Amino acid sequence: MADMLIKLYDLDDDRRFIAQQKERGISVRKPIGPEKHMIIDWVSKQFSPGWAAETDVATANTPRSCFVAVKATRFIGFACYDATALGYFGPIGVEKSERGKGTGQALLMACLLDMQLKGYGYAIVGDVKNPAYYQKIVGAIEIPDSSPGIYKNRVKNADPAV
Ligand SMILES: CC(C)(COP(=O)(O)OP(=O)(O)OC[C@H]1O[C@@H](n2cnc3c(N)ncnc32)[C@H](O)[C@@H]1OP(=O)(O)O)[C@@H](O)C(=O)NCCC(=O)NCCS
Repeated sequence: MADMLIKLYDLDDDRRFIAQQKERGISVRKPIGPEKHMIIDWVSKQFSPGWAAETDVATANTPRSCFVAVKATRFIGFACYDATALGYFGPIGVEKSERGKGTGQALLMACLLDMQLKGYGYAIVGDVKNPAYYQKIVGAIEIPDSSPGIYKNRVKNADPAV
């Protein structure tokens, strides 16, 4: 699947999505240090070890390049950037039972506005599985000839050869 490009310089600095999620009892914010291992573990169980590794990278960055959505005292979503590679957005995920209520969009926008503030002009979404989502929310466009892109030489199995 191809990569997509998002124009950060065209995004309005409108953070109402934070208050909208708060009205639903959901806090969209950066994780703090003592939550690091818990968010990585949650992403691994809910999604994949690969996405958990990227969350590990994002939560180790200074400042952190990761947002979580917390309902009561449990995680229901996460999103990262500068995790796969610098300038890349993702991964992002919302718990199945909590989808379709704007939480994914809030996590995406929180990351993109954070990137904009840091001085990035564009964000890249790598290996997009649902292009319609990014096209709809932020007008992302497909990058020609971008598959398999940065993942071309990715090691998928670190077991020694037999
Ligand atoms: C993608 C994902 C994070 C979206 O989270 P969500 O909380 O359900 O998204 P939202 O409720 O904020 O949706 C915002 C809008 O995008 C639309 N949308 C959601 N998923 C979509 C999809 N796969 N394709 C197109 N549009 C989509 C919604 O209908 C909504 O539109 P509306 O405002 O007109 O109703 C969630 O579906 C998910 O975790 N998927 C599995 C992991 C995944 O695929 N991650 C992305 C890998 S590239």
